[in-house]
Amino acid sequence: MSEEFLELLTEQVLRGAKYREITPGLVRRIGAQELAKRRSFKEAVKATKNKLHQVGGAYQQTKINYEKSLEMLRETAVSHPNFRTTCHQLMQAHASTRERLSILDEFYTTILADLPPVRTVLDLACGLNPLMYPWLPLPEDVQFTAVDIYSDMLTFIQDFFEIAGVNGRTQQRDIIGNPPTEKYDLILLLKTIPCLEQVDKLAGEKLVDGLNGRTLLISYPTQSLGGRGKGMVENYAQQFERLANGRNWQVQRFDFATELAFLVQTEQ
Ligand SMILES: C[S@@+](CC[C@H](N)C(=O)[O-])C[C@H]1O[C@@H](n2cnc3c(N)ncnc32)[C@H](O)[C@@H]1O
Repeated sequence: MSEEFLELLTEQVLRGAKYREITPGLVRRIGAQELAKRRSFKEAVKATKNKLHQVGGAYQQTKINYEKSLEMLRETAVSHPNFRTTCHQLMQAHASTRERLSILDEFYTTILADLPPVRTVLDLACGLNPLMYPWLPLPEDVQFTAVDIYSDMLTFIQDFFEIAGVNGRTQQRDIIGNPPTEKYDLILLLKTIPCLEQVDKLAGEKLVDGLNGRTLLISYPTQSLGGRGKGMVENYAQQFERLANGRNWQVQRFDFATELAFLVQTEQ
């Protein structure tokens, strides 16, 4: 595969309206795989777009109107109950974040109840999850870092942080093979590993090897985007066991209606 073809493919894919906000690193990673696998350049472009849709676009079924969303946030920011309602409403725009809404009142309060003080949080492949901030039972000055592949979504989240008074920052990053290595008290890896493993079967292992978190919250969906869920809990529980195998982790399991979660203490 020539470097020239990869450059050309990356450029071509990034010209598409649905892909131009995606970090070029991920487009290149998937493009290189597809150029090696497919019979023609055209097929490789198509397959790259399909894969990018699977791991990202599929969660944003309708185009999110960020300008209007910010307006709604600004309008309600002054009064707390309404602000929560707005956040709740806006989180519906990301299919994966939406699945957590029915359990949001219990999710973080239950899981994080007995943790030692948390000052820094890293939300990896965050989607619109940072908008759950008003439900997070952590100190108001907690430092929150949100990472995903879409620049427009991250700009919106950064604006949200400012409106909500969150000590937050965002990072556009392909976390496959390139995990943030700074130390965090709590790292959220919510429903992310199965998504990354559609691109690289070892992505979960490599990511967890590279991260430096005192506590990890790793979760899995209990139903697919299409709504089928048979056997998923069992499969993902086994997948997590394989990931945890041989690591000196202390693990607590939480079964929610729409999500299977594992809270991991990495330091004994
Ligand atoms: C299943 S969703 C989970 C979203 C969020 N963690 C939640 O549970 O609400 C997967 C997310 O991973 C992001 N993503 C996909 N591939 C990625 C990569 N290589 N690096 C960083 N983020 C990625 C997608 O844009 C999407 O927001």
